[in-house]
Amino acid sequence: MRRPMVAGNWKMNGTRASVAELIESLRVQALPVSVEIAVFPSCLHVAQVLGGVDDKHVAVGAQDCAAQNGFGALTGEVSAEQFAEVGCEWVLVGHSERRLVLGETDEVVSRKFLAAQVGGLKPVLCLGETLEEREAGRTLEVVGRQLAQVLDDHGIAAFESAVIAYEPVWAIGSGLTATPEQAQEVHAAIREQLSRQDRQVAEGVRLLYGGSVKADNAAELFSMADIDGGLVGGASLKANEFGAICRAAGN
Ligand code: 13P
Repeated sequence: MRRPMVAGNWKMNGTRASVAELIESLRVQALPVSVEIAVFPSCLHVAQVLGGVDDKHVAVGAQDCAAQNGFGALTGEVSAEQFAEVGCEWVLVGHSERRLVLGETDEVVSRKFLAAQVGGLKPVLCLGETLEEREAGRTLEVVGRQLAQVLDDHGIAAFESAVIAYEPVWAIGSGLTATPEQAQEVHAAIREQLSRQDRQVAEGVRLLYGGSVKADNAAELFSMADIDGGLVGGASLKANEFGAICRAAGN
């Protein structure tokens, strides 16, 4: 049985004041213990969130980490070790905004995945195709290639302590959620690709769906066989909405 997970990616949002407000509203939400919950504030607000959330219920992660491990001369970067040392458990790796806007290649994403694990964080590896790729019928090829880079570089055992998020780029922030069937098709293909290496590991890996997940579409998405929860952007900035999504994952 895979434990469902709901992750909130706050992206480049928040001020000290709005983050304090969001933490307070999250503290009064009824959050199901059966669901693993994590939030990913901006790097600047990680410490504030770690100090404020109920850490029995809500873990904290980083939105990115350096591809290099440890400490040293690398201006502007934050290593997995540094995030782990302050209390982060998770890190998003290869979010499409970093791949497409900031030019992260499959190879860089794969290095960050390893750096995360070496540094003591659990990676959430993000995969997903653009609208153009979907319309060209290349969805499974693109997602398969993104996954293969990490799988070939680090092996199936690396997925024993990792989560994968499928986030079609065209569904992110657009209000255009993938249908449960569209998402399930890709999730099944991801699990099948893992399964070719090791069936048992593949069965244990949580596959989250991301892209315009909201309180009113979460239950339907989470009812699919290979959708084990969600990676939520915009809706995770509203505690009520995020709480409702977490409860949907627990049902
Ligand atoms: P939205 O939920 O705002 O579409 O964002 C999804 C996402 O990119 C989460 O990482």
